Amino acid sequence: MIDQTPAWQALQAHANTLGQTHLRELFAAEPDRQPRFTRHAAGLTLDLSKQRWSAETLARLLALAEQAEVPAAIGRLLDGERVNVSEDRPALHTALRLPADASLVVEGEDLVPGVHCTLEHMAAMVERFHSGQWRGATGRAIRDVVNLGVGGSDLGPLMVTHALADYRPDDVHSVEVHFASTMDGSQLADYLRRLNPETTLFVLSSKSFTTIDTLSNANTARDWLMGRLAGEEGVDAELIMRQHFIGVSASDEKMGEWGIDPAHRLEFWEWVGGRYSLWGAIGLPIALMVGMDNFRALLAGAHAMDRHFREAALADNLPVLLALAGIWNVNFLDIRAHSILPYDGRLEYFAAYLEQLEMESNGKSVTHDGREVNYATCPVLWGQLGPNAQHAFYQLLHQGTQAVECDFIAPLRRYDDVEDAATREHLKGQHRLTLANCFAQSRVLMLGDDAIADDGPRPGHKRYRGNQPSSTLLLDELTPATLGALIALYEHKVFVQATIWGINPFDQWGVELGKKIAGETQRILESHQGLASMDASTRALIEAAWAAEESP
Ligand code: F6P
Repeated sequence: MIDQTPAWQALQAHANTLGQTHLRELFAAEPDRQPRFTRHAAGLTLDLSKQRWSAETLARLLALAEQAEVPAAIGRLLDGERVNVSEDRPALHTALRLPADASLVVEGEDLVPGVHCTLEHMAAMVERFHSGQWRGATGRAIRDVVNLGVGGSDLGPLMVTHALADYRPDDVHSVEVHFASTMDGSQLADYLRRLNPETTLFVLSSKSFTTIDTLSNANTARDWLMGRLAGEEGVDAELIMRQHFIGVSASDEKMGEWGIDPAHRLEFWEWVGGRYSLWGAIGLPIALMVGMDNFRALLAGAHAMDRHFREAALADNLPVLLALAGIWNVNFLDIRAHSILPYDGRLEYFAAYLEQLEMESNGKSVTHDGREVNYATCPVLWGQLGPNAQHAFYQLLHQGTQAVECDFIAPLRRYDDVEDAATREHLKGQHRLTLANCFAQSRVLMLGDDAIADDGPRPGHKRYRGNQPSSTLLLDELTPATLGALIALYEHKVFVQATIWGINPFDQWGVELGKKIAGETQRILESHQGLASMDASTRALIEAAWAAEESP
């Protein structure tokens, strides 16, 4: 295992000497720290100078990456080898963003034509919506599209549609996009109260098309439409199914069984993981919101990062460097918490998206060959919009007992195209204010008390230790292309970390047992049979649910 290698052990020895050195001392010792630890690619700037490391640390981490054969692993991933070992298939989300004139032959088949065929199918659908030609069963143009999906079939499109809301084309028939994921129907119930069934369409997004959360929302939506529209003149169930549902899945068969019209099925492939799937048909809500040109720009930005990932030397490679900073924190400085802090309201769902990407991918404790690791893997990762988090959990970052690695993310430019000059100036001022906060927070977390002029002794509750490590990621601007690059950066970071830890980032067996047991528990709840097989706590919970149902 990787912890037995000379590179790992050298890092451990190095951490024993460097580990407690305060960031303020590192900055004092290395005047060229900022340029030394800053890299650019695909419209992104990554400043890693506020990590608790030195030039020697990075050199040793790069040696670890070489020892773990990261360069060869990158080649295997991008070439379509079966890197998802437990499911014996490639992980080819990068193929979804290859340009039409590229070619990627995997096991004898060029995947690019199929990928672009699906993109063309999506484009034709988007065109029908945007020209007002996609009509509901009663003949009225669709105005509201509700995506029913969960996990990777929800979080990616949800995050990107929010991030790119400024990019809605204004010369098209407008369609509002909504998301319902929760199995309890809370979000869906709200839409069903507010939306008009005549002008509402549902996209059933589910790679497997077996996810109960999504199917239970879908069944409720189907009954809602049938109850309201069937019986209108000339409207029958078949017409409702055809005009009000689109399916997106890797299982054509299951979409068919559920009743999705063959022409309204968008397929993707088993070799695309759910949490890596926003680049293809699962991205339909994104394309509906921002148009196909912007969707293709998102893909192009991600592809630019893919190329950088393949071509750049490890020492200049943004995903590799971000991954190594994480490895240093988790494995050598014992920092097991990681906070994602975007300073841009449009990135409201970015942390939630990364929670799945990172923790479902790398929350693993056995290696490819089934051995239990004896080192830490994925940290606990969470986040929130930075400015709002300042008024919520930054207290813990500044004065709590946990060491936390933070990622600060912000666009350098904003609001250039606001038409009204006075409003533009106000908004640009707000953007500067936001940048000031972003830069100030990473500085205070780094320096602690040293960030302020010495104004004499202070009581303990007014003191700041500092020394919290952070990375700062600046986007030239938040555009479809830079957002694509940003997401791809994190995808590849996760892959590099998994490669070093020797784990598979593309499966998620850990969530399977819970699904099975939930099924059994549901059967007991519904049938009132089999309670005795439960433990005392679960028995009491089930009895409480029964009692609540029976009470008047
Ligand atoms: O339960 C976890 C998971 O399988 C995720 O990996 C996936 O993104 C999500 O459920 C939804 O799965 P599907 O797209 O098959 O409905």
